[in-house]
Amino acid sequence: MKNIDSRGHVRGESIYLDDIPVQQGTLYGEVFDSPCANGIIRNIDYSKAAAFPGVFRILTSNDIPGENQIGGIIPDEPLFAETEVDFWGQPIALIIAESEEIAKEAKRLIKIDIEKRTPIVDPREARAKNSLIFPPRTFRIGDVKKAWNQCEHIIEGEADNEGQEHLYIETQGAYAYEIENGSIRISSSTQGPTAVQRTVAKVLGIGMHKIEVDVVRLGGGFGGKEDQATAWAVMAALGVHILKRPVKIVLHRLDDMRMTGKRHPYRSDFKIGLSKDLMILAYEATFHQNAGAAADLSPAVMERTLFHGTNSYFIPNAELTAYSCKTNLPPNTAFRGFGGPQGMFVIESAIAKAADILKVKAREIQEKNLLKDGDAFPYGQIAAQCLAGNAWNKASELYQVEKIEQEIDEFNKLNKHVKKGLAFQPICFGISFTNTRMNNARALVHVYHDGSVGISTGAVEMGQGVNTKMVQVAADIFSIAPDRIKLETTNTTRVANTSPSAASATADLNGKALHKACSAILERLKMQAARIHNAEASKIELKDNFVHLNGKQTETTWNQLIQAAFFDRISLSEVGHYATPEIHYDKSKEKGHPFAYHVFGTAIIIVTVDCIRGTYQFDSVKIVHDFGKSMNVSVDRGQIEGGVVQGIGWMTMEELMYNQEGKLISNALSTYKIPDIYSVPKEISIEHLETEGHDMAIQKSKAVGEPPLMYGLGAYFAIQNAVKAYNPNHELKFHAPFTPEKVLMGLYEGVGEKVKH
Ligand code: MTE
Ligand code: HPA
Ligand code: MOS
Repeated sequence: MKNIDSRGHVRGESIYLDDIPVQQGTLYGEVFDSPCANGIIRNIDYSKAAAFPGVFRILTSNDIPGENQIGGIIPDEPLFAETEVDFWGQPIALIIAESEEIAKEAKRLIKIDIEKRTPIVDPREARAKNSLIFPPRTFRIGDVKKAWNQCEHIIEGEADNEGQEHLYIETQGAYAYEIENGSIRISSSTQGPTAVQRTVAKVLGIGMHKIEVDVVRLGGGFGGKEDQATAWAVMAALGVHILKRPVKIVLHRLDDMRMTGKRHPYRSDFKIGLSKDLMILAYEATFHQNAGAAADLSPAVMERTLFHGTNSYFIPNAELTAYSCKTNLPPNTAFRGFGGPQGMFVIESAIAKAADILKVKAREIQEKNLLKDGDAFPYGQIAAQCLAGNAWNKASELYQVEKIEQEIDEFNKLNKHVKKGLAFQPICFGISFTNTRMNNARALVHVYHDGSVGISTGAVEMGQGVNTKMVQVAADIFSIAPDRIKLETTNTTRVANTSPSAASATADLNGKALHKACSAILERLKMQAARIHNAEASKIELKDNFVHLNGKQTETTWNQLIQAAFFDRISLSEVGHYATPEIHYDKSKEKGHPFAYHVFGTAIIIVTVDCIRGTYQFDSVKIVHDFGKSMNVSVDRGQIEGGVVQGIGWMTMEELMYNQEGKLISNALSTYKIPDIYSVPKEISIEHLETEGHDMAIQKSKAVGEPPLMYGLGAYFAIQNAVKAYNPNHELKFHAPFTPEKVLMGLYEGVGEKVKH
């Protein structure tokens, strides 16, 4: 089925937050934020700004009736800074004015006096100073200490990655207004409507029942709106609560880039031990997560780094330790992959370094150590329906890897100043929120008495196509045309207590809840049809708009059946609730079965490096992906293409830079480069791994949102291989992104000297 949004998107008719018509009397909020990364506020003079014509009010922490607290996992983040500031861009006040322009003008008139303190920007420094968000955690399997003795080769090193700006096309924003009796309705561009509702209630000191959050769709979230859409919605609601006027806040791109957190940069150490025949016997890694100034989602992100620390390899002896380091950057947050990519980059770096030293191809080490059914992950879950080897083998055969490698060797021999490099990138990603209790969802279905259907779920559409999948689920069960079904907005009043749309699990969780609700109505309809046809309900089917009896179509249409049920006072509405079965996790032991299933795949990435300029172009990304039984191939392929390009962007060109003062210096699209159409690989081939799919996936169609981003990791190693082909003296470094500047330096370091090792 075609994406139900494609027509509206192409015609510019789809509604985003900023397209919602505002009410008469709407006021506009502008955030006043910290101009330094660490300091004590001595004095703020708001008088001139407050007196500026058109300014209604400047709200600060003093105006908060409830708690000045928006921390989701750990209550460590004020909505508005009070006496000190902990990061550059931290909100201090909200100027509310007649127009955005007036609010922006007024902001310039605020005078702030801050006693600056030296900020911490590096996570290793934070760890050394014991500046941690919460205590470190360690995952263990086997006995690493003993295993080192059995290793023929032991290789150590460091692997670092920088952050990534989400760059959702639609910036953060919210629009709030009072309904009556102090109730507030908020349109929010959030992945987590319940988080917004809960936090507004807390800050205003009122019940959640007074707050209704509504989401039409997001112009992208990528994790950046799982937690960090909340602050703006709370500020708008606070304005409404105090001024009794509608308030709208939409961040300017530069404000959004400065004030919001990003993917976490990590600084990591690794030690890997291999046997003579290249089996990985032992692996030790220490991750330093740069959490920023408050916890936000960092504890959960760090946990996923540990869960994915061995990627799709079986390592019998491993010890992985992670520190969540508190620094003076904006609190970093969820970003597609949620800490998984950071963990996987380190093991891939360890393998690349081992391969370089042992003078073998990384792919030999990768292939030998792929996970198999029955292997244990360091967190205790046993690999089942493991497709790591299947994906790898199919990719090798289908894409004729040996031939490609020969061609690359030929090419590199013939071309002095242009070199090609290839890398394999297997992936393994666990599906479920790592926090077991979040794995539940609900759906509300109404069949109207004319036979049309309205469905509501907790799923937020952010471009990933979940709404289309939800319509497919209902259309399949009722066997009616999709255009008889309307997908309603995501609304906390219709579907309550939801988990955010995240963890790639949105379609699974909400789809299964929807499946239950539709199935319950279907059962009642079959009974109704049985009464009409004087038959047993078990002999009835609903197919293609008609009642079928004993496998044969009857005269009774869907519409007639619905009307009959309505006249007989049968309920045509239902709520479905789904909680993922089987999963559990014991944090005190760091063991359990946290994931419903894993998604596997292999990508082969080929790059061409211009060795005069240090620039590069990706020839191809050839993928074999584990879709299960895809319920919507075009939506899923779209997710893979987008994920791959976003992953490559992170690994190659997206360079987030903070200076020593903790100021973001890549703070605009002129200094922060994301992939454009010219940097997209010339070819992205996607092949399905033929399987039966997984029962815990919606319609056996496996989650697809995040896993493909990690194919992009291979970009780093492909470039590295090309650089090495030009300059055998190049000493491998692991510090993503591999920007053209770094490539150029790699190409020429030690050139002219005798080849080392
Ligand atoms: N695709 C688009 N177009 N826009 C997005 O914001 N977010 C990604 C992924 N794909 C995103 C996207 C992230 S971070 C997640 S967790 C999943 O979609 C969320 O949706 P799902 O659970 O339905 O896969
Ligand atoms: N993934 C994504 N988002 C989350 C998770 C997770 O595992 N846990 C909490 N939020
Ligand atoms: Mo995605 S990072 O789980 O929103």
